[in-house]
Amino acid sequence: MGVDGSDTGQDQGELRPDRQEEVGRAADALAAGGLVLLPTETVYGLGADAADPAAVAAIFEAKGRPRFNPLIAHVADAAIAARIAAFDDRASALAAAFWPGPLTIVAPIADPSAVCDLARAGLETVAIRVPGHPLARAVLAAFGGAVVAPSANRSGRPSPTTYADAFAETGDKCAAALDGGPCAVGLESTVVAVLDGPVRLLRPGAVTRAQLEAVVGPLAEADDDARRSPGRLALHYAPDAPVRIDAAGPKDGEAFLAFGAWPEGEGVLNLSPSGDLAEAAANLFAYLRAADRLKPTAIAVAKIPDEGLGEAINDRLRRAAGFVG
Ligand code: TXA
Ligand code: MG
Repeated sequence: MGVDGSDTGQDQGELRPDRQEEVGRAADALAAGGLVLLPTETVYGLGADAADPAAVAAIFEAKGRPRFNPLIAHVADAAIAARIAAFDDRASALAAAFWPGPLTIVAPIADPSAVCDLARAGLETVAIRVPGHPLARAVLAAFGGAVVAPSANRSGRPSPTTYADAFAETGDKCAAALDGGPCAVGLESTVVAVLDGPVRLLRPGAVTRAQLEAVVGPLAEADDDARRSPGRLALHYAPDAPVRIDAAGPKDGEAFLAFGAWPEGEGVLNLSPSGDLAEAAANLFAYLRAADRLKPTAIAVAKIPDEGLGEAINDRLRRAAGFVG
């Protein structure tokens, strides 16, 4: 659980023994330079050996990413992370507070051979996290090294939060694919930069601003680094139908993502009937996809409170609606 009691996906229990064999095959596929569909507690990732430039290049190819953006390196534990990245006291405190879990720390690279230049887009920094999903952790432990894994969607599409959605996006490009069930969090990890100066929030996510500030004090806003964070570009999370946010209700022909009490009806999907932000976050991407399949004139989305996890939900919704961030 997170410090505010929200589900950060850290407590998903032990891995069932019958899945160990599958895990071994996925680790072998990574070692052979293949791509692996990797469930995490946030969203499904498309994983590759971070040290292998050819494998990393295959990720960009499979996603159809327009340019080489830096990727997140996933590792089995904080000790491995601290060998790859140079962690100061603040980074160590954040790692201790939120790992395993949905926080990505950007820090100076300490071992460039562990996360190749292409994976870092040539930067002297590396984005690193220890995911909380037991299958992801088992694969990372079996593989041993760092695995870069962007969200498994093709570029510009909503991040997949179920195995079926992930497989439909990039499954055909993978040497192994693991079904880890629906993602508990449903939004990508929070990304913070721990470099010179105050800690900066580069991408709001499952670990909230308040949770971070409880550990490292007031955060600075992202500035130049935001340009390097493609998750912060307009239309990054867009479904096919246009998205209309802060809607009081659906217009004719629109699908509607409700939040809180709302009558059931055709084309209505309720992100959380009880108005629970964690539930809404977990449902967001899957419901955007489900609404899209109805071929509506637009997807109207109810106003979501901008507090706690709502900051990350609204960030993704504004991008889906095409507002530049
Ligand atoms: O929850 C997640 O983080 C998921 C799961 C699969 O772990 N992964 C994910 O990866 O969302 P991706 O590639 O879609 O987003 C990575 C984000 C981007 O916004 C990227 O710009 C930023 O991390 N990033 C990576 N390396 C960076 C660096 N060195 N400096 C600044 N931002 C960086
Ligand atoms: Mg993504």
